[in-house]
Amino acid sequence: MASLPTPPATAAGATTKTYSSSFTTTSPAVSSWPVFAQSSKKCSIKSLKHKVSCNAGSSDNSLNNLDRRNVLLGLGGLAGAVNLTSVPSVGASPLAAPDISKCGTLPLSGFKPGEDTPTGGDCCPPDSSQILDFEFPKNQTFKVRPAAHLLSPKYIEKFNLAIKRMKELPADDPRNFLQQAHIHCAYCNGAYTQSSSGFPDIEIQIHNSWLFFPFHRWYLYFYERIMGSLIDDPTFALPFWNWDTPAGMTIPKYFNNESSALFDPKRNQSHLQAVIDLGYNGADADTTDVEKVTNNLAIMYRQMVTNATDPTSFFGGEYRAGNEPISGGGSVEQSPHTPVHRWVGDTREPNGEDLGNFYSAGRDTLFYCHHSNVDRMWSLWKMLGGKHKDITDEDWLNTSFVFYDEKKNLVRVYVKDCLFTNQLGYDYQRVDVPWLKSKPVARVPRGGVAKKLAGKIKQTKDVSFPVKLDKTVKVLVPRPKKSRSKKEKEDKEEILVVQGISYDSEKYVKFDVYVNDEDDDVSAPDQTEFAGSFAQLPHKHKGKSRSKTNFRAGLTELLEELGADDDENVLVTVVPRSGSEDITIDDIKIILV
Ligand code: C2O
Repeated sequence: MASLPTPPATAAGATTKTYSSSFTTTSPAVSSWPVFAQSSKKCSIKSLKHKVSCNAGSSDNSLNNLDRRNVLLGLGGLAGAVNLTSVPSVGASPLAAPDISKCGTLPLSGFKPGEDTPTGGDCCPPDSSQILDFEFPKNQTFKVRPAAHLLSPKYIEKFNLAIKRMKELPADDPRNFLQQAHIHCAYCNGAYTQSSSGFPDIEIQIHNSWLFFPFHRWYLYFYERIMGSLIDDPTFALPFWNWDTPAGMTIPKYFNNESSALFDPKRNQSHLQAVIDLGYNGADADTTDVEKVTNNLAIMYRQMVTNATDPTSFFGGEYRAGNEPISGGGSVEQSPHTPVHRWVGDTREPNGEDLGNFYSAGRDTLFYCHHSNVDRMWSLWKMLGGKHKDITDEDWLNTSFVFYDEKKNLVRVYVKDCLFTNQLGYDYQRVDVPWLKSKPVARVPRGGVAKKLAGKIKQTKDVSFPVKLDKTVKVLVPRPKKSRSKKEKEDKEEILVVQGISYDSEKYVKFDVYVNDEDDDVSAPDQTEFAGSFAQLPHKHKGKSRSKTNFRAGLTELLEELGADDDENVLVTVVPRSGSEDITIDDIKIILV
């Protein structure tokens, strides 16, 4: 079972990480676990009835409660010393930041040109004649992002005020609320091409690949700085929606206050006080709140532990200049990230606005708290140690984006500068991580399942791919090697790959994958047989509505748990859940990586 490393006595000291012969970066030891004061709320999931009940332990959970010494230990003299942005990369093909002067209008689903867009008809930012290269701010104030459900009234007030001021800015100010929302729209719906990388006919898409985590980290970094500067409080940090812990599994109440700047009328009205379903299929499941919480924790374990054993599985596949983003999103991007969007989005709206569609997601203030927690998952994942490390490929590290900062400067940033939140001047409030102890359990031992079904269910070699996913697909998949030794398992992870998933990108698409589950009524997420979910949020591409991508799930631990480690074949069941009438799959295989 995975566990976070034991906290070191002090977070002082720095580690130097070498990425390649061309440069190194110094970061504060990312070992400051757990530095900050914990909330002592105790929450019970037994008594769930449309809300999680918690006994307030320490009642004031504002940041004033945090240990100031720890908050301030921050960066010291480090900040200015690690500017890596000018290191050229030779012969590589990282995706270059878009040329925003070439940002294009496009036919967005549900996007009404001229209506509630500050720029009248598209989601492009104001142009700028000057681009600054990012430098780590000198003497920055260290910030701690708090859990959204634990905010003090004072903190909620600040949050509200910051958003209110963003909304009041002139429409063409790049810090304006809608302008900020449009950053997401522009980077996700094909408004930018790869022209600055020499590929003017290929769009930029920052989802569905290894760019997902770094893009959103930078996006929030500037968003947070803008909020802080508008309320003149450099300590202000973006709260995270702690949907991975029982007490955080509802929309924090203050988002529902109609007179608050945080309010968004376009949310699913039956979910305003409901317990979230991190495996949301696009319609409410017939499960009790207690079951939802249990399933949510199991989904977290699956996606953060079982299905995130290596960098590609966690971050997503590679995406370089000249590529279409088809390599596949990482485990957390697909689920719970995508189902959370869809669960909040308003079913009364034509495209699940606001959170349920990429173009409109940034118009809901909850988006930023949702992504703050997604970003926190990156930090937590690295704390798991072992192979849980950032990608070292130079094309990833040298990918760049542009954002407007709090002074309205257009700034170019690189992926390699956002790997350590401490360097960026923030960290997350330490709260309990219950899913680490929520490993799914097997319903019954599942060894020998494939053998029993031989002749009844086809082997992959006898299936004529591509197969349609208009109904449940069951197939026997051969393993590259059975009964591997402990050492072999440590060296290489056994991974199930669903390859070449072709789908309609304007729909919410989801399917679940089960392993060795021979029953017709497949298992729930808290059972070992559930291997993971593929999920895609609707978005429009230039000139085409179909996308193609891949899905991965980790099998090493799962097959051990099922008692199926000595089996030659694995029974894989793919169950369509949403928008899958016209999904096709090119191949299903098992690889060792
Ligand atoms: Cu850029 Cu949560 O999506």
